[in-house]
Amino acid sequence: MARAKPLADNVRRLREQIMQADHDYYLLDQPTLPDAEYDRLMSELQALEAAHPELITPDSPTQRVSGAASREFRAVRHAAPMLSLNNAFDEASVAAFDARVREGLARAGAPVQQIEYACELKFDGLAVNLRYERGELVLGATRGDGAVGEDVTANIRTIRAIPLRLKRAPEVVEVRGEVMMFKREFERLNERQREKAQREYANPRNAAAGALRQLDPRITAQRSLRFYAYGLGELRGAPEPATHAALLDWLVGLGVPVAHERAVVEGVAGCLHFYQAVGERRSTLPYEIDGVVYRVNSRADQQVLGYVSRAPRFAIAHKFPAQEAVTQLTGIDIQVGRTGALTPVARLAPVFVGGVTVTSATLHNEDEIRRKDVRIGDTVIVRRAGDVIPEVVAVVPDRRPSSAKVFKMPTRCPVCASLVYREEGEAVSRCTGGLVCGAQRKQALLHFASRRALDIEGLGDKIVDQLVDIGLVHSPADLFTLDADTLAALDRLGGKSAANLVASLERARSTTLERFIYALGIRHVGESTARDLARHFGRLDPIMHASEDELLQVPDVGPVVAASIAHFFAEAHNRTGVEQLRAVGVHWPESDPVRKPVGPLAGKTFVITGTLPTLKRDDAKSMIESAGGKVSGSVSKKTDYVVAGDDAGSKLAKARELDVSIIDEAQLQKLLGD
Ligand code: IVH
Repeated sequence: MARAKPLADNVRRLREQIMQADHDYYLLDQPTLPDAEYDRLMSELQALEAAHPELITPDSPTQRVSGAASREFRAVRHAAPMLSLNNAFDEASVAAFDARVREGLARAGAPVQQIEYACELKFDGLAVNLRYERGELVLGATRGDGAVGEDVTANIRTIRAIPLRLKRAPEVVEVRGEVMMFKREFERLNERQREKAQREYANPRNAAAGALRQLDPRITAQRSLRFYAYGLGELRGAPEPATHAALLDWLVGLGVPVAHERAVVEGVAGCLHFYQAVGERRSTLPYEIDGVVYRVNSRADQQVLGYVSRAPRFAIAHKFPAQEAVTQLTGIDIQVGRTGALTPVARLAPVFVGGVTVTSATLHNEDEIRRKDVRIGDTVIVRRAGDVIPEVVAVVPDRRPSSAKVFKMPTRCPVCASLVYREEGEAVSRCTGGLVCGAQRKQALLHFASRRALDIEGLGDKIVDQLVDIGLVHSPADLFTLDADTLAALDRLGGKSAANLVASLERARSTTLERFIYALGIRHVGESTARDLARHFGRLDPIMHASEDELLQVPDVGPVVAASIAHFFAEAHNRTGVEQLRAVGVHWPESDPVRKPVGPLAGKTFVITGTLPTLKRDDAKSMIESAGGKVSGSVSKKTDYVVAGDDAGSKLAKARELDVSIIDEAQLQKLLGD
């Protein structure tokens, strides 16, 4: 018995440390314990509790997952109904809402000129009610029909963001809020589903709903759900906060997570400002929201305003344009890109999503189509978030017509009829036609003319389409033979634009070596590799004749890139293309290759990451460079040293993974001094 006291103390201390870590992570968004340390504390606590079961309490962090799988969820009647919100989709509806609020308060003899609103996010998850009695979580329930929900307590307990015990304890408090899955967790879950060849979830909300409604809490526990509070159900034994903002602060004080993005504003203008600011940050939030919520801040005024049917008069949800919509997939087209990649594109019945009407969406590749089991004729969920290309996220399986057709990748290119080839281990099918293929030729020409390549202003896709289709242009060199009369005869090109295009072709003739190399559109050769090649070799001919080994001498050029360059110039038609361009007068200043660097760090590549104790990053960089070294932005096998300071992140991890030498500032100074 003599050891019981220190043992119990030890158990209590471990629990407090774990609960504090959860609090810092989920409430403050400021992790204070590394994952490994957290896991260590948890195992220690588990071991102690296993040896001394009498010390286990229901609110111990080890008890989040407990009990066996149940057969169904028990129905529970909510102590106070869980209501819904009316929606506003435009500013006029927000103004009308505000007018109704002011009118309502005036009619009740409490006129207010300018209403104070509490603004918060409208989380895209599931509403739950958490009932705490004397501080202890006794019930977690879904919203259900608003009056009766399902008892999902065992699952709710697995959510680490939800405290099992509150810090200060009123007799009864019901916390209302949203259970969600963060976007990253959602991606990971779908990745795991893919690996197991199981159906993926269409969006984080469906995934969260699926996780919360698992009959086995052990599965819920693996899904890392999150929670943010936004309201109150029953409250007994504590004074009601006077405003919604004060209520949220009070909940935070109890240890309940509330999202940081919230504000108290004045009137409609303040609300719309909040809407706009949140809209701009929407894509950077770690979770999905579908709008913002405005609520009359004074809880006394809320009482006065009351409810219409099942929604409050004192609050409204101002929705963002939906990022997902349901529509019919009427066909699958194939697009051929510059490198011959065939991209299946869904043809869609027009649908309004993400603020625009969408009629097509990418399906990425054949594997994706198979994985999502998309068939022609299916009803599909289309997503357009921000400015990204719309994509088909999932099919709605119960709406599949019996006539739905399975898609097959064509074996011949739909543009040039060349064979389609899919390399072992690659997801992409490619047309083997190269520049014989009109589609690839068009893309290659557009790339050649693009701003960072030869910068031929005025040569857009409509014109390139015609030039290739009519047969006026086969290769980039043909562009320089076009005259104003020929161009003026094209659709969409008047005499003035034709003359301008001729002028920009004239300008484009004189370029730089790096632009020229980039313009060739060699696979894996982007602008920065083109620049490295130009600097290293100085002239084009040695590049065209370089062996893979010679190419590997170029900084940042690895085996894949070297092979790609060598293969490109090994093709006779590519060499001819280059000669033709020179023949029509495309030229650039040639120079001697950059001298071999000299200095103590000659030939060494460095990557700097994190905050160095005394040197600014730019200073460290120029010191390394003047000692003959090179500073690169990313860690690869060719990196000689990673100079790591405080808060070094993924680059440091990469360096460890690749076994690259990691040094600190002092060691760098030493290398520089030597
Ligand atoms: S307040 C009396 N605030 O939207 C008002 N709801 O249509 C009750 N939701 O079922 C809800 N974020 O699932 C409120 N900040 C927020 C919300 C929010 C998301 C959801 C909730 C509710 C539905 C209301």
